[in-house]
Amino acid sequence: MNGKRVFIQEVATRDGFQNEAQFVDTDAKIALVNKLSECGYAKIEVTSFTSPKAIPALRDAEAVMHEIKRNEGVVYTVLVPNVRGAERALSCGVDEVNLVMSVSESHNRTNLRMSREQSFAQLNDVINVVKQTKVAINVSLSTAMGCPMEGDIAQEDVLSWMERFAQIGVHGVTLCDTTGMAFPSQVGSLCTAARQKFPDLELTLHFHNTRGMALANTLAALEAGIDRFDSSLGGLGGCPYAPGATGNVCTEELVHMLELDGYKTGVNLTEILSASALLPQLIGHDVPSQLLKAGRRLDLHSMPCLAKDGLPEQQAFSAGA
Ligand code: COA
Ligand code: ZN
Repeated sequence: MNGKRVFIQEVATRDGFQNEAQFVDTDAKIALVNKLSECGYAKIEVTSFTSPKAIPALRDAEAVMHEIKRNEGVVYTVLVPNVRGAERALSCGVDEVNLVMSVSESHNRTNLRMSREQSFAQLNDVINVVKQTKVAINVSLSTAMGCPMEGDIAQEDVLSWMERFAQIGVHGVTLCDTTGMAFPSQVGSLCTAARQKFPDLELTLHFHNTRGMALANTLAALEAGIDRFDSSLGGLGGCPYAPGATGNVCTEELVHMLELDGYKTGVNLTEILSASALLPQLIGHDVPSQLLKAGRRLDLHSMPCLAKDGLPEQQAFSAGA
């Protein structure tokens, strides 16, 4: 048992809900965040202060942020694209703002409608506003491990954007595999380089499970010294501006795997499974979580009743019919 601490950051109410066609009622969002606040997460990304035209699903960001019950042990963060978003977020007393831009020019133009240099200039303005407060600043670098329009992204490009943000005083950087293009050896190499180059930055990895590699990528990141992961309850998630994007790594599957391997996440698996079970009702469809369907590894089943020939009764009957 390794006993290593791993920090889990829930993103379902932001990365998850931003992508849902069915609007989740404000009260339901608040109730879900309140429930998640008691589950042992290090951080919860509650919502985003984006343009309501761009992301109508999160148009109630102020109401949600104002009305949730905060737990002192949890950092409440929100996604912010520009100064307007930062001002809205600061007026709600958030603990952290999570700024966003893409490492790929094409994805940045699609998602944020501007060039990367324009984004950087704008985020620099945001940082100058937020630095006058005690609110922490994280920047999420989208498409850091592949772009659905440009393909491979050079590791040096990712490191050089990290460098630019480190120089202007962000406390954390999240490397996002926005459309699940990352693979384990790539993740290992990028994380090792990032850890070495920026030992003082709080580094988060953000995987999507688009091609089924999110848990494998997590293990590769852990081996490279990463201890902080975004994940989404039920495996919800996806970027409306990234073709083919699907859910984040599923929180309950991530916690289940990590706890089996002896990591300490602080997250109560029973509680998050019960929260995940509420999601289909809220969003109007099934969720990707396999753990929710299969149960935990040692959630055992009673033996089926056996007939005299040793086959389950149902089978014995049909075999003889
Ligand atoms: N909050 C609220 N409204 C905002 C806003 C913000 N943070 N930023 C811009 N707006 C409004 C403007 O007031 C304007 O409204 P109007 O049409 O009624 O005048 C409208 O949005 C367009 O503003 P503009 O400055 O021209 O921005 P844009 O259309 O180029 O949009 C973004 C830029 C980044 C604000 C917008 O595309 C956005 O919010 N995207 C969301 C990105 C995202 O969250 N993606 C998924 C996660 S990675
Ligand atoms: Zn994402």
